[in-house]
Amino acid sequence: MKFFLDTANVEDIKKINALGLVDGVTTNPTIIAKEGRDFEEVIKEICSIVDGPVSAEVTSLDADGMVKEAKEIAKWADNIVVKIPMTEAGLQATSELSKAGIKTNVTLIFSVSQGLLAAKAGATFISPFLGRLDDIGTSGIDLVAKLRKVLDTYGFNTEIIAASVRNPEHVEKASLVGAHIATVPPTLFKAMWSHPLTDNGIKQFMADWASFQEK
Ligand code: G3P
Repeated sequence: MKFFLDTANVEDIKKINALGLVDGVTTNPTIIAKEGRDFEEVIKEICSIVDGPVSAEVTSLDADGMVKEAKEIAKWADNIVVKIPMTEAGLQATSELSKAGIKTNVTLIFSVSQGLLAAKAGATFISPFLGRLDDIGTSGIDLVAKLRKVLDTYGFNTEIIAASVRNPEHVEKASLVGAHIATVPPTLFKAMWSHPLTDNGIKQFMADWASFQEK
């Protein structure tokens, strides 16, 4: 399974990338706004740190505007993926961009039909939002499982990015049902590798080792 970082915080990206576990980065307008930095500047910096795909989202809502913006964004670096919202205009833009050889990540996927249409339009990635579905009492994991089945049945090359993941259990379950990628906020990354029993175990080992040295 691949891990993307769901952030535009360069310090967090550098720190977690040093663990050797980061396969890419995803951003959205909310994430960019949080950093308060120039969009192009921060995306270019992220692209220079991480080798894998870096998603940057368009803000136009019409197909022509999305395609125009996407073509500009795609020039920023070789590893850019343009994020396109799942709308009728978004599907048209995705089809055009796919024909032009520009990689896309169709975002805000909440149903199998949305994912299927995005894959058929040529999306490189589709991003079902797990946490936001759970928030309204629907299973995000169930959606990921169904999307994987549909992609495999019809032989689409599109990869599923489990997005809006809120806890380690989301990542575990997404991996079990075959999400190709999970995009993880930095705080959640730490929650994935740390465990209180690991900390207690280390403390005990160190204490036992210290008393053994004193003998
Ligand atoms: O990857 C999508 C993510 O940025 C949205 O997450 O927690 O705002 O639903 P959240």
